Amino acid sequence: MFGLLLCLAVAYLVAADQIIFHDGPIESYDEDNKCICSIELPDTTFPSHLMVILENAYKNLTGISEEEALKVMKLQTDLAAFNETMKKLTATVEKIEMEGVKDDEAYKDILEKINNTKRWARDLSQALSEAGVGIAALSDQVSNISSIVWELEKFDDNKVLLTHREIASLKKQLADCEDSLRNPNSGLSASGNWTPEFGKCDNKVMLNISKPLIVKLNWRGLSYKFGAWGKDFAVGNKNPDKYWVAPLNTDERLLETYRIYNSYSELLLYKNQIEKTLSQFVGFTWNYINCGQGSGTILYNGSFYYNCYNSRNLCKLDLATNKVQRKVVEDAVFNNWYSYNGVNWQDFDFSGDENGLWIIYSSEKSKGKIKIGQLDPNTLTIVKSWQTSLYKPKATGTFMICGVMYALMRESDHKEKIFYKYDTNTATEGTMDIILEKLTGTPQSINYNPNDHKLYMYNDGYLVSYDVIFRRVPLFQKRSVVSVEEPDTFAVVGKNHFSSRDFAIA
Ligand SMILES: *[C@@H]1O[C@H](CO)[C@@H](O)[C@H](O)[C@H]1NC(C)=O
Ligand SMILES: *[C@@H]1O[C@H](CO)[C@@H](O)[C@H](O)[C@H]1NC(C)=O
Ligand SMILES: *[C@@H]1O[C@H](CO)[C@@H](O)[C@H](O)[C@H]1NC(C)=O
Ligand SMILES: *[C@@H]1O[C@H](CO)[C@@H](O)[C@H](O)[C@H]1NC(C)=O
Ligand SMILES: *[C@@H]1O[C@H](CO)[C@@H](O)[C@H](O)[C@H]1NC(C)=O
Ligand SMILES: *[C@@H]1O[C@H](CO)[C@@H](O)[C@H](O)[C@H]1NC(C)=O
Repeated sequence: MFGLLLCLAVAYLVAADQIIFHDGPIESYDEDNKCICSIELPDTTFPSHLMVILENAYKNLTGISEEEALKVMKLQTDLAAFNETMKKLTATVEKIEMEGVKDDEAYKDILEKINNTKRWARDLSQALSEAGVGIAALSDQVSNISSIVWELEKFDDNKVLLTHREIASLKKQLADCEDSLRNPNSGLSASGNWTPEFGKCDNKVMLNISKPLIVKLNWRGLSYKFGAWGKDFAVGNKNPDKYWVAPLNTDERLLETYRIYNSYSELLLYKNQIEKTLSQFVGFTWNYINCGQGSGTILYNGSFYYNCYNSRNLCKLDLATNKVQRKVVEDAVFNNWYSYNGVNWQDFDFSGDENGLWIIYSSEKSKGKIKIGQLDPNTLTIVKSWQTSLYKPKATGTFMICGVMYALMRESDHKEKIFYKYDTNTATEGTMDIILEKLTGTPQSINYNPNDHKLYMYNDGYLVSYDVIFRRVPLFQKRSVVSVEEPDTFAVVGKNHFSSRDFAIA
């Protein structure tokens, strides 16, 4: 009789509401009494197979150069525009067939339009063929990913990536389990990621940043390269699923319009948006007094906070009442004095994290070094401030996590580096070295959301997000693995069981 082989197939977890995992160790044996490491993901509650497809597709996509990805997106936009033009032209021609043309001018006009369209079509098809077969396949994949994401979203409002992380974590545990089968004395692996509780700061130390997820082009198009986007960054806010997108006008200065979307899928579809304008037409002229300046804007607890146009004031726009409150920031420089490197007009940069609402700015007295102010969201007064030694124009942007300000600088065309931090909890500063991939150019704004542990970056007109990876805290104290007959045996039971063989752990 073989000894009883005990295997703890570790399957704890999980935070996502829709997934039911076993909440305890599973002891399982196959027919030969060998140990099995498996995790059951019930397929009635969540389309896990889609996660796998998505993950593979995403891996494939992230393997391509950013340049190629940009090309695909540009081609997609061009194609859509071309479709639109063709539709209009067809309608015009049909109308002419029915009603005839008014005069020679109108006829010439049509001919010219047709000629232009022809030329455009030629250019496009040339671009497509130059881009090669790869691009077409990639383009399919991009569409595929979007549709899969939608399907998943239907199941799991905005928790897809949380789930994704949880599954990654499960896979890691499976691999650990497998490792310990091979090597019964091995302890718990110290690596791997940990998802701490949202909105809390216990033991939360930023370890790394994921690869970027390019969510969408901003609704105003490619030429709107400056702006900001995200969710409501206040912990415990009433509408944590809403998204806002606030592209600046092409002057890189004026924040005049913004959109609010109720969900991720509406953002992806540009659907059901609420679009508002901040300028007012008064006495035959446009008045920009309530508009914003620069892309330091955030939405915090139902209100936008931003630098009021052409002034030393900060503005708070309550979305529920549409009332604008303003308050002068006494010692702040403004009107593009000490903005970030490669980013104009962002004298005021707002952040919301687990610890509250912040304003990042600089004063004349500090000669452009960053000051961090903690803002009272109601009175708009700075209740406490910290003077850092970081020259603001050296950084390309900053964000706050748990009262720690992190600053980015340009590393190369496609990389930014988090190189500096200032901890307001201890009033100490230090250097860092975490690389962030980006599309191109300079990120116009970057903000952290304590409610989903993501960074929201507005990069060259694209809305991009990242997952913040925090330091892991061990989930399990001990593991009892006795011995194993055939170390390599690793069974997958049932159709919906995930084994670490099915996945490469990134
Ligand atoms: C990813 O790429 C590999 C090899 O190029 C291919 O076999 C696979 O089907 C791709 N996966 C997806 C989901 O596109
Ligand atoms: C163009 O429109 C046709 C139908 O009107 C559609 O089948 C096709 O997918 C569209 N192409 C793009 C790139 O939008
Ligand atoms: C359109 O192109 C044709 C030849 O390609 C040319 O003969 C004609 O003059 C052009 N028409 C206009 C309005 O440009
Ligand atoms: C698109 O997704 C479907 C599943 O929804 C999958 O079968 C197919 O292989 C995917 N195609 C590509 C090109 O990734
Ligand atoms: C940080 O994340 C990036 C992107 O996922 C990865 O390439 C890099 O190896 C990670 N660095 C560390 C120290 O984990
Ligand atoms: C958000 O506003 C509500 C009142 O509308 C208030 O009770 C709550 O404390 C505020 N939350 C934060 C984080 O300021």
